Amino acid sequence: MPASDPEGVPTGAAATDTVDASATDTETAAAPSSWGEIARLARRFPERRWAAPLMVLLGVLAAAADTVSVGLAVMLLFALLDQGARIAEAGGVLARIHQALQSVTGADTAMIAGVFFALILASAGLVYAYQLMTAGMMNRVAERMRDQVHRQYVDVGYRYLQGREQGELLHILATETWTVADGFYHVARIGVNLCAIVVFGVGLFFLSWVVGLTALVCAAAVFVLLRLLSRPMRRLGRETLAANQILAERMLVSLQGMRTLRVFAQERHVLRVFGAASSRVRRLAVRAEGLKALIGPLGEAGSLGSLIVIVLVAGRAGVAAPTTIAAVLLLFRLQPHLREIEASRIALAGLNASLRSVRAMLDGDKPRPADGGRVYAGPAGALRFEAVSFSHAGRQRPALAGVSFEIRRGETTVLAGPSGSGKTTILNLILRLYDPDGGRITTDGEDLHGFSRESWLGRVAIAGQDIGLIEGTLAQNLRIGAREADDDSLRRICAMVEILEDIDALPDGFATRIGASGQNFSGGQRQRIGLARALLRDPDLLILDEAMSAIEPDREERIRTRIGAMMQGRTVLIVSHRPDPAFRPDRTIRIAAGRVVGQKAAAGDSAA
Ligand SMILES: Nc1ncnc2c1ncn2[C@@H]1O[C@H](COP(=O)(O)OP(=O)(O)OP(=O)(O)O)[C@@H](O)[C@H]1O
Ligand SMILES: [Mg+2]
Repeated sequence: MPASDPEGVPTGAAATDTVDASATDTETAAAPSSWGEIARLARRFPERRWAAPLMVLLGVLAAAADTVSVGLAVMLLFALLDQGARIAEAGGVLARIHQALQSVTGADTAMIAGVFFALILASAGLVYAYQLMTAGMMNRVAERMRDQVHRQYVDVGYRYLQGREQGELLHILATETWTVADGFYHVARIGVNLCAIVVFGVGLFFLSWVVGLTALVCAAAVFVLLRLLSRPMRRLGRETLAANQILAERMLVSLQGMRTLRVFAQERHVLRVFGAASSRVRRLAVRAEGLKALIGPLGEAGSLGSLIVIVLVAGRAGVAAPTTIAAVLLLFRLQPHLREIEASRIALAGLNASLRSVRAMLDGDKPRPADGGRVYAGPAGALRFEAVSFSHAGRQRPALAGVSFEIRRGETTVLAGPSGSGKTTILNLILRLYDPDGGRITTDGEDLHGFSRESWLGRVAIAGQDIGLIEGTLAQNLRIGAREADDDSLRRICAMVEILEDIDALPDGFATRIGASGQNFSGGQRQRIGLARALLRDPDLLILDEAMSAIEPDREERIRTRIGAMMQGRTVLIVSHRPDPAFRPDRTIRIAAGRVVGQKAAAGDSAA
């Protein structure tokens, strides 16, 4: 483990070690190339199989149109100057076009100029259509990837997400999904340029097969030479990905942890660590640009060498001088295409790690919460834990080891136990954030996981510890409990938990923004808003996880009485560190170190 600063973020040389280590971890012999990754990602667009060939076709046409329009512009100029004869003198394709036009239109200068102008406009239109299509394709790819990664985050098992770094998840969603669009773009460009090369290449073979063959051999040699750049580019790509993820993590820390860091006067430290992460991203980007910039001069040298070889070979083979010159001109036209192919290939190598991270995130091998098809029809009998065990990812000791107990319908049950004993884990199992590793949870004798999550959770509500307020307005936060709740219900529930007065005193009332994690409100106000949100759901099972710890005793007593009246005949589960008689529970379940150590009904006592 490399040295790291107190927040676990590797700095300086240590950061490089971490990155390299993770790079070798992910670098397996069987790791797909960028082409393989693109091919796999392309399967996510089954309805658009025509898009790639169409893009390449349009690209080739656009490239051709771009080239032809220069000639057309010259002809237009001559036509406007009434110098048509000059064009005919020049010979070649342009002269033939001009002749054909003349035979159709007569010698009408304005007409010929008009036709040339129309042809130029048509070429420009083609180029425009290609660019529009490229933009459309790239944005569609980015959107699809973004939506699919986001859906994965929403659908995948909560335990899996908890085991991943927040910065990594954010970076994949916000940034890497765009690199997939880049990847598709480069693949399309390679297709376009290959087609152009084939067209020019065929022309070359028509001129002279000796020249054509020599050019082919030379192109292969340059290709191999430039390939040397791909390997360092792949490595740089992996390092850049890791550095960007660390930077995203730092951004999250700065945004989410600013209060904590400020009150501990950690600003200078935050700046230093962020600066280090930021500068590493810069250094890697500069190195990548440096590598890409090598393509130009290397390609230039390669093509110049090729030309020399071709001229020499052509001379030896007795190819006529005009043919050699025509071939050399053709080769010059070929160069930009060859170079762009190389640039795209190297860019693709650099994108490999990013493509892989998106593809790996989208792969369907992730654990998903069990979601039975049956609809939970409402108030049921007891909720029973039967020898339930559960371990958190990366922990050796199970958080729950064969836990059995019963929460009876219509009762208030207190779940008590010291910190770290497994109370929240039990709640997370009831709330279907986790599935048990062993044993089962039943309601009325039926496995909880046989019911659809939505129908079960629609009848459950929780307030307290880790169920914070989220970005948005007060009303939006409350309506998480019940989407359709009208304003009157909102006011009634808020009055019940004594938060209405506070809200009415705000200039924006229910439209007040909550701020990150509810920071625009006091701790006790946040708890009362959380309570209102849970009660708005009108649940069969209400869970309160230390939900009133920041509310003064008098007020707590009043709110508890009202909640008791509202939940009459329904189930309440209260989580607390200690068995507190003030809750007046019907039953208390005591747990310690992931086991039930005692159960006490209001009527009597029975040790587990
Ligand atoms: N996401 C997690 N990853 C790994 N271990 C976890 C995770 N969440 C909880 N644990 C571990 O599982 C055990 C039980 O934790 P849990 O949160 O259920 O305790 P708790 O009884 O709710 O404690 P507290 O009263 O402090 O809230 C603890 O040892 C804790 O460190
Ligand atoms: Mg807890």
